[in-house]
Parts: sequence; C-alpha cells; structure tokens
Amino acid sequence: MSDRTGFTSLRPRGLNFDSFPMRLFTKGNARQWNPADIDLSQDARDVAAMTDDERWWTCALAAQFMAGEESVTQDLQPFLGAMAAEGRLADEMYLTQFVYEEAKHTEAFRRWFDAVGLTDDLHPYIAGNEHYLQIFTEELPGSLQALAQDPSPRNQIRASVTYNHIVEGTLALTGYFSWQKICASRGILPGMQKIIKHIGDDERRHMAWGTFTCRRHVAADDALWDAVDERMQELLVPAMGVVTGTFDASDSPPPFAIDMNEMAEYAMDKLGRRLGAIESARGADLRVIDVDASPEALEERFHAEDSAELVAAG
Ligand SMILES: [Fe+2]
Ligand SMILES: [Fe+2]
Repeated sequence: MSDRTGFTSLRPRGLNFDSFPMRLFTKGNARQWNPADIDLSQDARDVAAMTDDERWWTCALAAQFMAGEESVTQDLQPFLGAMAAEGRLADEMYLTQFVYEEAKHTEAFRRWFDAVGLTDDLHPYIAGNEHYLQIFTEELPGSLQALAQDPSPRNQIRASVTYNHIVEGTLALTGYFSWQKICASRGILPGMQKIIKHIGDDERRHMAWGTFTCRRHVAADDALWDAVDERMQELLVPAMGVVTGTFDASDSPPPFAIDMNEMAEYAMDKLGRRLGAIESARGADLRVIDVDASPEALEERFHAEDSAELVAAG
C-alpha cells in the first residue's frame, strides 16, 4: 500500500527553484568532487617525517573526523523520511545530495589513512574520549532515529540542533579550521588540505540547511524556539568536552601551536551567530523564510572571515 496519490514534480511549476533547498541542491550539483582524484603521496611522506607526538595528534583528529563522517552518513537518513512525511520534495532531494556528500567525506578520510599507511585498528584514538562517544553513539543517533517514530517539528529541531549545529557547526567546523591551520602553517599534508577545502565547502551548505530548517519551524510556531534552546543546553557540555578530551588524552602539550581556548572561542562564536539567525526567524512570514538566502549568506561570511584569518596567520 502506498499513500502516493499524485506527483509534486507534475504540478504546475512542479519545483520552486528559488526555494532554499532547491538552491542548495543546484549549487551542490555544480560543485561535485571525487576523493579518488586527490594525490596523497606527499601526505604519506609528511606523516612519516612527523614526531610521534605530531603523528598522534594528526591521527587522533583524522580518526575523530572519519568516525564522525561515518556517523552522520548513517544518521541523516531518518531526516529524509521526515521530509517525505511532510511532503517537502525539495528538502528530500537536497538531503539525498547531503547524505551522499557525507559518504564521500568518509571515503576521503579512509583513503587518507590508507595512503599514509595507518591500516591498524584506529578505535584507540577515540576510545578514551567519553564525550565523543556520548555524542556519536548516543545523542546523534538517538535524536535522529526519533524522527522515524515521530517526525514532529519539535523532534526535527532536536535532530537538527544535534546534527547541524552541534556536530557539524561546532565540532566539525572547529576541527576543520584547526586542520587548515596545522597544514597551512607548515605547508604540509597537501592532500588533506584539498580534502578539508572540499568538505568545508559541502558543510557550509549542510549547516545552512540546518539553520533554514530550524528557522521555518520557529517561524511557524514561536513556542519551538524553546526546543532549540533546550537541546543546545543539553549538548553544550558534552560538545565542549569533545574538544577538550583530545587535549586531556595527550600527556604532552599539543604540537602545531593548537590552542584549546582559541578553538573553544571559535566554536562558541559561530554557534552563537547561527542561533541568532534562527532566533531572527521568530514571527517571520513562512513564505519569506522559504526563499530567504540569509542562512547561506551567513556561512559564506564565516568562510570569508576564516580565510582572512588564515591569510593573516600565514
Ligand atoms: Fe561531512
Ligand atoms: Fe555535513
């Protein structure tokens, strides 16, 4: 039995290409990349030349990312079902691209580990980080899987805050920025630099979709702003614990001039500004939200700021 009675794409004007999700979809289609095309031979030489400490830090970061990309590949899938249940074909289409990109990110990190010769079990790099495990084995899968039973706006907000604003917007973004600094400061790991640049480009669209999704629910029902705030409060401590956990797990001071406070500040700044973008949707007209490009513009602004800072640091 199916509840399909008609076809969105057959309706007059079928898909609104000006809608936010269709714009993201179109943009993403034009920016596809292939992890297998990236040359990782210099990365293998750079990793071999590192001190043990530098190698540990580099691999711990890469392992956290790879397991995180695998998690988000699997955990996004209930959101596709939630969009289908709501009859939002454009969002469903965009999320197929989104999940494909997460799969590609997982591939890129695994190719990197294989290329640099780290083919042993990598679990020890994450095993001691209890907050990492809390986020990736409980909070993330739990809040996304809740959508399969009940795709309500409230559950969508809880899932999006966890996935888009904490995991992508706080953890991943902070880490990608550190990667760029590590690599650029020494001129090492050119393959990883390319990987991170592509992933960062994809992630800006992902986070913009998360902001958009929260905005449309908050605009439709002002009481849902509390759901955003509540989920954020629940996750702030474990999220910060993921960042500090890597520092705790190492006996020696971090190499590559990685600064924990700088990372935490960076994360909080972006998080606060994204939340501001969601809050600004309170009381807004839903028709405006659906075509409003501001979540995308915000991510582009963050990117421009990061690029300027990297140039200044270099
Ligand atoms: Fe990703
Ligand atoms: Fe992502």
